[in-house]
Amino acid sequence: MTNHDTPSMASLEPSMIANPALAESGEARISWARGHMPVLARLCAEFERDQPLKGRRIGMCLHVEAKTAVLVETLLAGGAEVIWTGSPATTDDGVAAAMATRTGVRIYSIKADDVPAHHAHIERILASNPDLLLDNGADLIAGSVDGRGHRVVAATEETTSGRNRLIGELSGKVNFPVIVINDSPIKLGFESERGIGPAAVDGFMRATNTLIAGKTFAVIGFGWCGRSLARTLRALGAIVIVVETDPIKALEAAYEGMLVTDINRAAERADTIITVTGHPGIILKEQFLKLKDGAMLGNMGHFSTEIDVAGLRALSTGSRQVNLHVEEFDLPNGRKVHLLARGEMLNLTAAIGHQIEVMDLGFALQAHAMRIISQHPGDFTNGYQSVPDHVNRAIAEHGLRTLSSVDID
Ligand SMILES: NC(=O)c1ccc[n+]([C@@H]2O[C@H](COP(=O)([O-])OP(=O)(O)OC[C@H]3O[C@@H](n4cnc5c(N)ncnc54)[C@H](O)[C@@H]3O)[C@@H](O)[C@H]2O)c1
Repeated sequence: MTNHDTPSMASLEPSMIANPALAESGEARISWARGHMPVLARLCAEFERDQPLKGRRIGMCLHVEAKTAVLVETLLAGGAEVIWTGSPATTDDGVAAAMATRTGVRIYSIKADDVPAHHAHIERILASNPDLLLDNGADLIAGSVDGRGHRVVAATEETTSGRNRLIGELSGKVNFPVIVINDSPIKLGFESERGIGPAAVDGFMRATNTLIAGKTFAVIGFGWCGRSLARTLRALGAIVIVVETDPIKALEAAYEGMLVTDINRAAERADTIITVTGHPGIILKEQFLKLKDGAMLGNMGHFSTEIDVAGLRALSTGSRQVNLHVEEFDLPNGRKVHLLARGEMLNLTAAIGHQIEVMDLGFALQAHAMRIISQHPGDFTNGYQSVPDHVNRAIAEHGLRTLSSVDID
C-alpha cells in the first residue's frame, strides 16, 4: 500500500496529452464503448461495492483508447490510483483528454509519440512508484526488473509479445507474479481468433480504400491472430498465402486450403503482406527487393519491428506520404512499395482497434486478475502465471448472461 517513499498523485508530473479541447469527442466514444461492455459493467458494480483495489497504485501501459478507458474506470471504481500510458501511434487523443480532465488519472500519451517518447513515459510511470503493473508488451515489467518500480508486488500482462519476453529475456528475473491474460482461453478463443481478422481488415480498408477480393495477401505467422486474419481475408475473396515456421501450424494452414510457402516466394507473389508473428525482423532488405511494383506492407504484431522500417528507409531512393496511413517508397530497382500505418499495428493505428465486445471479455479478465493478484499476491509464485481456471469460468459465466442468444439458467 502507498507509503512515505511514494510521491502523491498531486506531486506527479502533469498529464501529457495532445489537446484538452478534444475531451468532448473522447467522452462520446467512451460512452459508446461503455454501453457495449456489459461484462465489465457487472464487475464494475462489484468493484464499487467491495473496493478490492483500495490503496493500490497501478502503473499501466495499454492502448489509450475508448475501451481501455472503461477498464480504467472499473479500476478506479475499485479504489485504485492509475498512472497510464499507451503504445506509440495507437493513442486516441480525445479519449486521453477526456480521462485526464474528468478522472484523477495521470496520462502520459499522445498519438504522435515515437518510440523514445514512449520509453520516457514508461520511466515516468515507474518513477511514480506503483505497486501493481498492468502491462502490454512487458515494457513496464522489463523496466521494473532493472531496479525501478521497486515496490511492485504483482502485475498482469495483456499480450503475446509480453508473454514471449516473460518466458524469454525476462525469465527468472521478475521478483513478483505476472498473470498473463493472453494465454487465457477467453482471450485466445474470442479476441485473437474472432477479433483480429475483422479488425485488421478494418484497418487495411481505412488505410488504403482498396478491394480485398481477387488480391493476393501473404499472412506471415499462422498463430492465433494470423489464422483469424487469413480466414477473414479468404472469406472476403482474397487468395491467401501463409508463411509459418512451425511445421504443425504450417500443416494446419495447408489443410485449411491456404497456399503455404516461404518468405521470399511470398514476397514475390503477394499484392499485400501482413506480418503477425510477435517477432522482429520478418521483412528485411532481401524481401523488399523481391516485392512486386505497388506492393503493400502492413503489420498486426505488437511491436513495429516486424517490418524493418529503418532498413526500408535506408534502402529507398525517395519516399512520400500518399494517404494518411500510406507511405510510398522508391526502391533502387525502380519499383514502388507502400508501407501502411508506419509498420505499427494496422487495426489500432489506421482504425479503432478490436471490437468492443471482445475487449469487454478480455478487460473483464484483466480487472478480475488485478483483483485477485492484488488481494492475494502470496498465492502466486514469481514470474509467468496463467489466469486461474476459476477466473476464466467466472468471466465466461458473466459473458453468457449478457448474450440474447443464450437461454440457460
Ligand atoms: N493488433 C492487435 O490488436 C493484437 C492483438 C493481439 C495480439 N497481437 C500481437 O500479434 C502477434 C501474434 O500473436 P499470436 O497470439 O498470434 O502469437 P502466436 O505465437 O500464436 O503466433 C505467432 C506465429 O508466428 C510464427 N512465426 C514466428 N516467427 C516466424 C517467422 N519468422 N516466419 C513465419 N512465422 C513465424 C510462430 O510460429 C507462430 O505460429 C503478437 O505480437 C501479439 O502481441 C496484436
